[in-house]
Amino acid sequence: MTTDQAERLRQIVGTKAEEEPKEELRALPVGSARVIAITSGKGGVGKTNLTVNLALALQEAGARVLVIDADLGMANVDVVLGTKSKGHLLNLLEESVTLGDVLQKGPKGLRYISGGSGIEKAADFTREERELLLGKLAACADFADVILIDTGAGLGKNVMDFILAADEVLLLTTPEPTALTDAYAVMKAYSMYAKEKNIRLVVNRVYDEAESKEVVKKLQQTSERFLGMTIDCLGYIFEDSAVMRSVRAQTPFLVAYPSCIASRCIHGLANAVLYGSRMTVTGGWRGFLRQIFKFTR
Ligand SMILES: Nc1ncnc2c1ncn2[C@@H]1O[C@H](COP(=O)(O)OP(=O)(O)O)[C@@H](O)[C@H]1O
Ligand SMILES: [Mg+2]
Repeated sequence: MTTDQAERLRQIVGTKAEEEPKEELRALPVGSARVIAITSGKGGVGKTNLTVNLALALQEAGARVLVIDADLGMANVDVVLGTKSKGHLLNLLEESVTLGDVLQKGPKGLRYISGGSGIEKAADFTREERELLLGKLAACADFADVILIDTGAGLGKNVMDFILAADEVLLLTTPEPTALTDAYAVMKAYSMYAKEKNIRLVVNRVYDEAESKEVVKKLQQTSERFLGMTIDCLGYIFEDSAVMRSVRAQTPFLVAYPSCIASRCIHGLANAVLYGSRMTVTGGWRGFLRQIFKFTR
């Protein structure tokens, strides 16, 4: 499964790198998309900026990407993209609303879906409602190779539900002690509840690379020793004033400042996501949905 996925992505990269993402849906087995949840212990560390810009970089590398804004407290993918959602995921509960109606287009044709408040009660919906949502949402995997989910921060039930349902988790932190402590709390909860463990660190707002590497090493050692869990580091993003400027301009920095330091770091991360060693599709998109809508228990 892992090598197939890598091969498929390499083929896409090889043949599609120059082209805009195709509009029409391509036939792929349903549920084959990689589902990657992006989370953090502490809020405000850069999840939404990472999600949006990583999505754009993956897309540039030829992958078909879908972003889901699932930060229920502070949904702001819209803000970073400079777009306005016309609908959200829960509108799908209306019979007449189709996936196309809630699918939004951002810069560079980036597709995203706004989660909308209420999704945290997904498990309490009636069976019919859950089946309706699952049925409509399953088709996302037909047009996406990678589905990135911008979750909220912390250990709330909703956030945990999302990160436990995803095959892969990127845990974002800054090198600050408060962010690291909160990241460790997420690692601890994840180590206790995740059946298959695939969590990687991303360190944002790095000034001093050597110091940040040292900090990551300590976190990794602590995880191995006390949680019995290995946690790789996917990469670093440097502190870059272009990030703040791009947020103000409501244009992702990958678009507004394609060669700024943060953009270059994001391209590195995208490469690591596409060709890194720990890519896995176990549950895929369908598995994710089944778990979110509690069809497993
Ligand atoms: N690499 C960076 N360099 C400089 N500022 C950053 C960087 N990453 C994030 N920021 C700042 O942090 C703010 C919060 O980022 P955001 O992605 O909204 O965080 P979250 O989604 O985790 O709440 C941004 O508006 C930006 O000002
Ligand atoms: Mg956010």
